Amino acid sequence: MKIRVITIFPEFFAAGLGEGLLGKAADKGLVQVETDDLRAYAGDRHHTVDDQPYGGGPGMVMKVDVWDAALTTAREALPGCRVVLLSPQGQTLTDGGARRLANEENLVLCCGRYEGVDERVAEHLVDEQLSIGDYVLTGGEAAALVVIDAVARKLPGVVGRSESVERDTFTAGLKFPQYTRPPSYREWAVPEVLMSGDHGAIESWRLAEAERRTRERRPELVVATLPGRLRLVAVEPSAATLAALPELQRAYGLAIVAAAIADPEARAAAEKAYPAVKFHGQLANAGRRWSEDEWIHLADAPGPGQLSFAQARHRAIEQAAGVTVSFGGPAPRGAAAAAPALVEAPKGLPALVAWLDRLVGR
Ligand code: ADE
Repeated sequence: MKIRVITIFPEFFAAGLGEGLLGKAADKGLVQVETDDLRAYAGDRHHTVDDQPYGGGPGMVMKVDVWDAALTTAREALPGCRVVLLSPQGQTLTDGGARRLANEENLVLCCGRYEGVDERVAEHLVDEQLSIGDYVLTGGEAAALVVIDAVARKLPGVVGRSESVERDTFTAGLKFPQYTRPPSYREWAVPEVLMSGDHGAIESWRLAEAERRTRERRPELVVATLPGRLRLVAVEPSAATLAALPELQRAYGLAIVAAAIADPEARAAAEKAYPAVKFHGQLANAGRRWSEDEWIHLADAPGPGQLSFAQARHRAIEQAAGVTVSFGGPAPRGAAAAAPALVEAPKGLPALVAWLDRLVGR
């Protein structure tokens, strides 16, 4: 993978990239990072990259024409590259986001400075903006280093055993606790089970510990492991939605995809065409069956008695097992009676895909 970093502080990166696993990854040619000095693209003899903000206010703003020249060169040098602007205004980087970027062949990271970057850069010249957290750094350089580190360790061969990347914190919530010798230090003992040699018991203990600490410390992360427990039920789906269900199941790792189709002929035809999809007929029956589950409202602007997205997330976290998401139509009557928080679903596949993306933190 090639990563080009555009910055006014190219020297910032030398030490950070030369050490440890990142240094080794570079030596092995698994990741090649190059810096490009933004000032080289300034047209004047002072190499000016910033100017005063229109409308007044403190600080300087980085110029769109300079960034345009730098990015034109970058896109020529790295065809098909994904261009990312580091900015506190961006989506927050997640472990899933790092994995996604690791699939790119060429990445360009743009480091902003000062009070900001002309909005036209974000709007027209880059593919996305990324933040590394809800705090403001003096510039994007430290953030770019974080992105490079997080992305590089997802590349095959960078971390010794790929199993350890799969077991990372955040792949499935927080990581279980680790210990090494001595078995007892002061009055602090290593949990017995880890020294029992019983691999099954050790695995169960680790899973339980990881889950417990995730719920206690970072309950919002539980949703990231939710897709495997989600049942997605399309109510009277369109042909396009029906056709998309198997792919949605695969792409998000959903436990079950189902469709409720009242008309027996249409249901029989769909059953033949989509063997991986579970079908329900009578909505009343389906309602009884689903009434044990929590339903999630997918809309952002809830009506009376409905859940907002944030509330739905919260509920999903609290009841992580067996959550049913309905979309494409109103919830069946039986289910509505059994679960008062229940609701109508969003219209349209794009809304559903966007919702699932948010759920899994893509
Ligand atoms: N630049 C300044 N603050 C930042 C942040 N939190 N993430 C990414 N880039 C930044």
